[in-house]
Amino acid sequence: MSSRLILITGANRGIGFATLQALSLKSPTDNFILACRQKEKGFEAVEQLRDFGIQSEIDVLEVDVTCDYSLISLAEKVKTKYGKLDVLINNAGVGLFHDSFSEMRSTYNRTLDTNVTSVAMTIEVLSPLLRRSSRGQIINVSSARSSLELSSSGKLPPTKAIAYSLSKTALNMLTVEYAKIPENKDLIIQTVSPGHCKTAFNNYRGTKDPLDGAKVIVALLHSDTSMFGNGFWQMEEGEDVPVKIPW
Ligand SMILES: NC(=O)c1ccc[n+]([C@@H]2O[C@H](COP(=O)([O-])OP(=O)(O)OC[C@H]3O[C@@H](n4cnc5c(N)ncnc54)[C@H](OP(=O)(O)O)[C@@H]3O)[C@@H](O)[C@H]2O)c1
Repeated sequence: MSSRLILITGANRGIGFATLQALSLKSPTDNFILACRQKEKGFEAVEQLRDFGIQSEIDVLEVDVTCDYSLISLAEKVKTKYGKLDVLINNAGVGLFHDSFSEMRSTYNRTLDTNVTSVAMTIEVLSPLLRRSSRGQIINVSSARSSLELSSSGKLPPTKAIAYSLSKTALNMLTVEYAKIPENKDLIIQTVSPGHCKTAFNNYRGTKDPLDGAKVIVALLHSDTSMFGNGFWQMEEGEDVPVKIPW
C-alpha cells in the first residue's frame, strides 16, 4: 500500500503525540503533519519522537484551531506542499472547569468552540484536500463521556465537567452529519474514545498510557474500512479489535 499523509491536530503532546508515535511505529513510510499551536513545541516533540526511534517524515505546521485565519493558512500550506491529504485526526481539545457563575458562560463557550465548532471548521477547510485522496479518512477524538446511553443508564458516574461531556456529544453528532454530506460519500468519518489516559489534560490522573489510548486510532487506520465504517469506536482492555460504543 502506498504511503499516506496523516495530519494530527494538537500532536505536540498527550494523545496526539502518542498517536503520531504509534502510527509511525506501525507504518514508518507514512508521512505526518504534526499540527500544533506553537511551532517550537512541535519541534521539541519531533526531537522527542526521534529519541524514541521514530523515523517517518514529520512536518511541523502551526495551527490554532479556534482561529479562522490560522485554519485557512494551514489548508493553503498543505495544498501547496502536498496537493492532497489522506487522513485528518481532529485530536486538539480542551477540558475546562469554572468555579463561579461569572466564569460559566466563558467555560461553556470556549469548550464548545475548541471541541466542536473548531473541528467543524477544520474539516471544512481540509475536506477538499481529503476528497482528492483515494483513501480519505477523518477521525474525531471524542470521549466515552459523550455517550448519552452510557451516561443516562448510570454506567458513568456524574461529572463536574458537563461542558466537556456535552461538547463531545456534539462532536459525535457532527461526525454523523458530516458523514451524510453527499460530497463526503467517499470519506470514512469516525469518532473514537481513547479511554482515560495519563496526560496534562487530567493532571496525569488517567489510568491508561496514551500509547494504549492511541491503539483504537491505529486499528481504524490499518483495518479493512468495510469492517469499521463511520461510527463511534473504542478498544477494550486486552483487545486488539475496535468495538462500537453506543451513541
Ligand atoms: N486524556 C484523556 O483521558 C482523554 C479521554 C478522552 C478523550 N480525550 C481527548 O483526547 C484529546 C487529546 O487530549 P489529551 O489528553 O492528549 O490532552 P492534552 O495533553 O491537554 O493535549 C491537548 C492538545 O490539544 C491542543 N490544543 C488545545 N487547544 C488548541 C487549539 N485551540 N489549537 C490547537 N491545538 C490546541 C494542545 O495544545 P497546547 O500544547 O498548545 O496547549 C495539546 O496539544 C482531546 O480531544 C481530549 O478531549 C482525552
